[in-house]
Amino acid sequence: MSDKCSAGILGTGHYAPEKILTNGDLEKMVDTSDEWIRTRTGIETRHIAAQSENTSDLCIKAAKKALEASGLTPDDIDFVLVATASPDYVVPSTACLVQDKLGCTHAGAMDISAGCSGYIYATALASNLVKAGMYKHILIIGAEILSRLVNWHDRSTCILFGDGAGAAVIGEVPDGYGLLASDLGSDGSLGKILDIPASGVAEPVTHRAIDSGRIYIHMEGPEVFKAAVRHMDATTMKTLDKAGLKKEDINMFIAHQANNRIIQAIAKRLGLPQDKMWVNVNRFGNTSAASVGIALDEAVRAGKVHHGDIVVLTGFGAGLTWGCDVMRWM
Ligand code: UT7
Repeated sequence: MSDKCSAGILGTGHYAPEKILTNGDLEKMVDTSDEWIRTRTGIETRHIAAQSENTSDLCIKAAKKALEASGLTPDDIDFVLVATASPDYVVPSTACLVQDKLGCTHAGAMDISAGCSGYIYATALASNLVKAGMYKHILIIGAEILSRLVNWHDRSTCILFGDGAGAAVIGEVPDGYGLLASDLGSDGSLGKILDIPASGVAEPVTHRAIDSGRIYIHMEGPEVFKAAVRHMDATTMKTLDKAGLKKEDINMFIAHQANNRIIQAIAKRLGLPQDKMWVNVNRFGNTSAASVGIALDEAVRAGKVHHGDIVVLTGFGAGLTWGCDVMRWM
């Protein structure tokens, strides 16, 4: 492998737990309605992990499909990157659990904490590690079981999230293909508009924290909404510019699937027709770090991504973080 090869996605996979929770089910749990959820978010159903499943289990199922699609085995993997906000444990990392369960015996492993932008961050970091010649094949996975971190009495958040995992294997591709440019941004000053207040050493989990609900996801929805549209639009334009491309060059646009209104607002700004986008928030809800990986795998398997296509992945999430990867598909 040359020192400065091109790097990109060799194969993708995804997994979503069997159980499906409908808006009708939620109507029986909190004061909400199918109509409110559909019109405000576009969500109709979401997948919910079984009690016996952990985030690492979702990772394994998605990773096996990505390995199969790339024609590689766990033995070929040099590094495992798991992007998640809902790890099995604080320590050890979910990536280490995946490395062990999958049998990636020669691989390093670590988690990435970048909220819903995690898959975008992982794609950029892994591609650049391969480009730099440090590793040959990197397994990246965005995976979440946010159903265990939401307050099922809080209608403003519990209707939004779903569980799942999206994976890809990243390796060397011919010159001119793979990742052309990326942009990873953050604004930590806005961290408190989307957080889990009692989840670390600053505010440990105590009986009081549990009783007050501070162990669950807290989100100031309208503030996050505005920031999401602003940053996903800006990071996409910036990354296209870095790649020497224009918005008209996009063949497939995959945005973080948080809310169909956000996705459509960005599409409008970019002048993108529906057939150049993949939207599945209606079926999966917001799966945070998994969303872009799940959507990309669905688009690929549906035959919507072709050799030579310009594929744009854009994300936004807790941190706040945002980012974009522009690639020419192999
Ligand atoms: O993935 C990370 C990034 N996350 C996002 O990008 C999410 C961004 N935010 C959003 O998607 C939207 O802000 C939400 C879907 C979370 C909320 O939609 P909204 O249109 O911004 O609604 P809102 O929060 O301004 O609430 C409007 C009303 C409120 O009632 P009042 O005060 O007007 O009487 C809420 O109490 O809707 C009420 N409401 C609900 N009503 C029925 C909030 N949640 C619900 C609900 N069912 N589930």
